[in-house]
Amino acid sequence: MIYFDNGATTFPKPESVTREMLGAVRTAANPGRGGHRLSLRGSELMYRCREDVARLFGMDDPSRVIFAPNCTAALNTVIQGSLKSGDHAVISSLEHNAVARPLEALRRRGVTYSIADAVDGDDDATVDNFRRAIRQNTRMIVCTHASNVFGVRLPVERLGALCRIYGLLFCVDAAQTAGVAPIKLGGSDIDFLCTAGHKGLYGPMGTGLLLINSDAVPESLIQGGTGSLSSSLDQPELLPDRFESGTPNLPGIAGLSAGVRFVMSHRGLLERESALAAMLYDRLSAVNGVKLYTSRPEPSRYMPVLSFNIEGEDSERVAAVLNDRFGIAVRAGLHCAPLAHRSYGTLDTGTVRAVVSAFTTRAQVEFFADSLYRISNLMKK
Ligand code: ALA
Repeated sequence: MIYFDNGATTFPKPESVTREMLGAVRTAANPGRGGHRLSLRGSELMYRCREDVARLFGMDDPSRVIFAPNCTAALNTVIQGSLKSGDHAVISSLEHNAVARPLEALRRRGVTYSIADAVDGDDDATVDNFRRAIRQNTRMIVCTHASNVFGVRLPVERLGALCRIYGLLFCVDAAQTAGVAPIKLGGSDIDFLCTAGHKGLYGPMGTGLLLINSDAVPESLIQGGTGSLSSSLDQPELLPDRFESGTPNLPGIAGLSAGVRFVMSHRGLLERESALAAMLYDRLSAVNGVKLYTSRPEPSRYMPVLSFNIEGEDSERVAAVLNDRFGIAVRAGLHCAPLAHRSYGTLDTGTVRAVVSAFTTRAQVEFFADSLYRISNLMKK
């Protein structure tokens, strides 16, 4: 299989990820739940991952690295754990349902939100749209670092500065950027960074991160055993325990540690992947009948994510032909981001999305473009 569905999860994973996961299964037991050697080994693996993540994201305090099952759970913790009845939030027009649905659910509990248009190629306009959406009761801006469908990057530094001016919390969904685009939390205006562990960080599926860079710590949505302060029936306040009830996904976390190390040892991933995505963009632009919805990926403004379709076709059908006849994996449809598709006018047909990774080769890009050329001719008949 030729894999271009790296936006959903990166594949393959580095060998070190598999090795570390197996190592955790073979050598460790439940972390923080015992004083024996196997439990201590588990705690060691968890702490090592916290340290790796803190190093990658420029954080001083590894206890502010919270493990979550995925980015969606991390975003829910921030959104539902911070906003109360009467609060208002501003989000962008490119948000994933992981942001839109929790806010929509909170609407029934008296929270309101506005959508600010993200304008591709005009950061001034984007920031202005956010500014105009802020109200007296606005408490938080939540926005994606880059669209999971169209790759457009939002000006998060400027939006962070806006949050500081207006005294708002700032939460960034970095599912599509972490590990690829550099992000330093220390000294930034980002209060909460949520991300998946299984995309650009090359960890296994079932891993996610909530990074807390603020004193305004959200309520925990889940209470339970943390292995700490067990005599109390109250959820511990201390981090990371406040958010980590129940037995953790230790093999996943050990794998994530290896993924983060893989990323740290490969410099220039964004440039390399952007060059491949630009090559794919150029090849696809030359195919008759292919409509590209993404601009040519240039690293300071876009992630290496391409969205396209064959004119007049349903994106799911194009993806099915890519899979069935050419053995190419992509994701088509709405990518759990109907707001983004609404902004681009692609809600009815969806788009076909191709995302490269550290393992994508030029030969695979050539094959992809050739296959598209053949499909486009085939579909015309
Ligand atoms: N959010 C993931 C995607 O964009 C799963 O495909």
